[in-house]
Amino acid sequence: MTSDRDRGTFITFEGGEGAGKTTQIRLLADRLRAGGHDVVTTREPGGATGADSIRALLVSGATDKWDPLSECLLLFAARREHLVKTIWPAMEQGAIVLCDRFADSTLAYQGYGHNVPIPFIEGLYASVVGDFEPDLTLILDLEVSVGLGRAISRNTSAASNEDRFEKMDPAFHERLRAGFLEIARNSGGRCVVIDADREPDTIAADIWDRVSERLSDAGAAA
Ligand code: TMP
Repeated sequence: MTSDRDRGTFITFEGGEGAGKTTQIRLLADRLRAGGHDVVTTREPGGATGADSIRALLVSGATDKWDPLSECLLLFAARREHLVKTIWPAMEQGAIVLCDRFADSTLAYQGYGHNVPIPFIEGLYASVVGDFEPDLTLILDLEVSVGLGRAISRNTSAASNEDRFEKMDPAFHERLRAGFLEIARNSGGRCVVIDADREPDTIAADIWDRVSERLSDAGAAA
């Protein structure tokens, strides 16, 4: 069944800590806008007023501040606000929405990382999001030690307190990296794994090829 939301394109960026998603989203948005596309950039958790308030609860403080299941429920509450207030309206206007993290992060972090049962997360997804899903997901893959090193130095220099997840133990980060790769294998082609241990411009060129391919399949010339 088609809906007005199908006028837009929903592209999500995923990966562990320090994978370079923010830089790549900026480069892709600039290139798409230069080509005349209407682009909306957003992120999770966040992207709408209520969702930003929930983000503040989740991303700072002690690693054990939330029970994993509570954490999952908060993420889906934030996601619902984000969809209803930001993503779906932009899609209905025909925009290309570039989103820094979406539900694959919940599967990877809360599911593979914290052992929340995957069927529970899939059930929440069906109730909260329905049959809407990304047109394309770019998973930026990187060695855990390299990514965590980048994330820690970035947060130290920006004096950010958004470090709750990166403080979790390395085994947690290894589980979620393996989780993202498994999600990609099971995604039926929706997800593409991008080697994020390269120069930003090389990664951007790789991403551009994947995105322009999808846009031309969908009839929207890049
Ligand atoms: P960010 O650092 O990429 O902005 O994301 C904030 C943190 O939130 C990041 O450490 C991963 C975490 N997160 C989850 O654990 N589950 C989720 O579903 C999402 C969207 C983010």
